[in-house]
Amino acid sequence: MTVDATQIREGAPANAPEDLVAWVTEIAELTKPASVYWCDGSEEERDRLNQEMVDAGMFIKLNEEKRPNSFLARSAPSDVARVESRTYICSEKEEDAGPTNNWADPAEMKATIMPLFDGSMRGRTMYVIPFSMGPLGSPISQLGVEVSDSPYVVVNMRIMTRIGTEALDLINDGAFWVPAVHSVGYPLIDDEGNERPDITWPCNDEKYITHFPETREIWSYGSGYGGNALLGKKCYALRIASVLGRDEGWMAEHMLVLKITMEDTGKEYYLSAAFPSACGKTNLAMLQPTISGMKVETIGDDIAWMRPGEDGRLYAINPEAGFFGVAPGTSENTNPTALHALDRDVIFTNVALTDDGDVWWEGLTEEPPAHLIDWHGNDWTPESGTAAAHPNSRFTVRADQAATIADNWEDPAGVPIDLILFGGRRASNVPLISEAYSWEHGVFVGATVSSEQTAAAEGAVGSLRRDPFAMLPFCGYNMADYWGHWFEMGEKLGDKAPRIFQVNWFRKDEDGNWLWPGFGDNSRPIEWALRRLAGEVEAKDAISGRIPLEGDLNTDGLEFSSEDYAKLFALDPEAWGKEADMTEEYFAQFGDKLPEELTEQLEQLRERIANA
Ligand code: OXD
Ligand code: MN
Repeated sequence: MTVDATQIREGAPANAPEDLVAWVTEIAELTKPASVYWCDGSEEERDRLNQEMVDAGMFIKLNEEKRPNSFLARSAPSDVARVESRTYICSEKEEDAGPTNNWADPAEMKATIMPLFDGSMRGRTMYVIPFSMGPLGSPISQLGVEVSDSPYVVVNMRIMTRIGTEALDLINDGAFWVPAVHSVGYPLIDDEGNERPDITWPCNDEKYITHFPETREIWSYGSGYGGNALLGKKCYALRIASVLGRDEGWMAEHMLVLKITMEDTGKEYYLSAAFPSACGKTNLAMLQPTISGMKVETIGDDIAWMRPGEDGRLYAINPEAGFFGVAPGTSENTNPTALHALDRDVIFTNVALTDDGDVWWEGLTEEPPAHLIDWHGNDWTPESGTAAAHPNSRFTVRADQAATIADNWEDPAGVPIDLILFGGRRASNVPLISEAYSWEHGVFVGATVSSEQTAAAEGAVGSLRRDPFAMLPFCGYNMADYWGHWFEMGEKLGDKAPRIFQVNWFRKDEDGNWLWPGFGDNSRPIEWALRRLAGEVEAKDAISGRIPLEGDLNTDGLEFSSEDYAKLFALDPEAWGKEADMTEEYFAQFGDKLPEELTEQLEQLRERIANA
């Protein structure tokens, strides 16, 4: 039995506009669900879906005393992360996707995926999820509608975005919205009408995460996990939004946003920061300074949308409403704020289950429990020799459950950004902090961000993985055009543009020891950057940018010698010469599209190296 157009029209809420109902009907005619359900975003709806998933075995309810209103889901072992190799940018022209994206012709991609979506929801409910990325009604926010055959997606989207009636009202008022289609690709009835039982994590071995930048559409098939399925996050807020930003004069960035108040002057600053995945971004978003005089609060942990305001400054919102964070490594020592945000109302995915119905992951406690059920659902003991929680296991939680959340984190006007940080994971060459000479130099720094490959990652040890602006997997168009957009934004912002700094928490000495303690001590170089903005400290011109004078980096309470300073800020002209050569090679792949400002910046870098 498949729902028909009349049933869809009759079941639609009164505030669903015709064009939306028509689109939902079209998708239902393609995917052939048994029913269509329009999400209102209420708590009652959430509780009902959670209970249905518990009854179906998809959710395990955690111990109500220890972890109120929290659940654990275990995914299929084949569906544990974003799949970049199956992620496509389907622009009309290949050159508009650029050399760093998987490109597919939009018509060909539609011809490939439509047969997969045909009947993909048979026997299931199709959920219609109207959502707002960003505070409801903010001029910087954007709307979308995801249809999905996964109740797990609904309850996660409810935490990560603002879903339901109010978002639908805005769509009904005529706001632009992005259509996003998601199916796990596990119909319960085949073409011949044969039924099969559901499983606890339905998905399909064939996966397509596809984006159509010109028509602003998202189609995702085969995965129920994270960014593949919660389409507001990477698919919309970064890939599609980066294209909207290019066309409309704003920026969608893979950046956390912090509010910092300096207690001596009372001055408030806002900082946004781009880091590749797995560089401690969540920890920085909830930074607990080890120095006094500086209060740090969270605006966002992953994505920033930024737009010039009437006063000419750059204003940022966090388009998300929750955190989809990596659990392993989160502990009382590394990130007590994140840990306590997880005390209640959390969806955990792929962490381990304790015997008393609570959760555990590697790094949570020094001593692992004597017995667990691992993320596969099997008995686990410390002798098992495997990870109890998947390394990419996650928590989904409302952002305002973090004690560090700023009281203005949902300000519809956004917050004015004073400085931007770019960070990678570099064992060598890149100093703890340096200030870009100009916006153009800052864009060069962002464009060349890289991480050294570790033995665990693919690629030779010692080679660099470039992750420009931490946007490598998330830029919805040609990366070189994206750099060009940054130059244009810089021109528009003029002297109101944020100042740009490069940071590196990961430098090591010749014996492989960390040179910097990281975590809460990262407040120290940030304090220096703020003192630069306030005009309180001088800096020294160096190859990478302007670096702190030795006495100006606040190292009170640290064991930090002149020798440590020298190592942390060492800039070896020969090594930087190689770095410049690698950058030239890297830029070459962008051909004519490479903005000439970047070639000029490379020249200036070479001059600084020659003069060093
Ligand atoms: C994320 C990522 O999950 O960047 O935020 O991979
Ligand atoms: Mn991210």
